[in-house]
Amino acid sequence: MATVSYTRMADMTEADLKLLEADAAADARELPGRLMDAVAQLERFQGADKVTRLEHSLQSATRAHRAGKDKEYVAATLLHDIGDTLAPHSHGEMVAAVLRPFVSERVCWIVQKHALFQAYYYAHLMGEDRNARDKYIDHPFYDDCVEFCEHFDQNCFDPDYDSLPLEFFRPIVEEVFRRPRNAADDLEFVAP
Ligand SMILES: [Fe+2]
Ligand SMILES: [Fe+2]
Repeated sequence: MATVSYTRMADMTEADLKLLEADAAADARELPGRLMDAVAQLERFQGADKVTRLEHSLQSATRAHRAGKDKEYVAATLLHDIGDTLAPHSHGEMVAAVLRPFVSERVCWIVQKHALFQAYYYAHLMGEDRNARDKYIDHPFYDDCVEFCEHFDQNCFDPDYDSLPLEFFRPIVEEVFRRPRNAADDLEFVAP
C-alpha cells in the first residue's frame, strides 16, 4: 500500500491527504463491524448480575425494538454499555462520543447521561441522592432519559427474557453507522 510522504503532519501535501482519505473511507466501512465486536465482547462481563453485560445489552435493544423505537434508538441502546470495559466511571460519556457523529442530539444525550439517571434505582442504597438527575429536570431530553432507564435499562437484567440474538441487530448497526452526519471533535466538517 502507498504511504504518505511526511513524518510530521506539518509537511502533509494534498496527495498525502488523498491517500489518507481513501484509507479512512475503508476504515469507516469497517466501523459497524468493530462496534458489533465491542458488543460481543461484553459476554465476558457479568459480576454478580444474573446476566452477562452482553445479555443485558441485547435485552435493552430487544425491548426498544419491540416498543417500536427507530433504528437509531435501537442501535444506541444496543451499544449503550460498550464503554463499561474501558471507562467504568464515565461509560456514558465514552459511548456518547462514539454515537455523536451518527445519531440525533437527543439519542446522544440519553446515552451520555444514562448512568446518572440510572442511579435513581440504587443511589439511595448507598446513602446518596437518588434524585441527583433532577438537576436536569428542565432539560428538553430529561423525560427521554428517564424513559430509557425505566423501560430499556434498569429492567434488563432478567435471565428469562427472550432477547433477540446479536446478529439480528447487525443490519441496524450497519445502517446507522454507515456514514457520519454530524461533525465532532469541535471540527466544522465531518473528518475524513
Ligand atoms: Fe450503563
Ligand atoms: Fe445498561
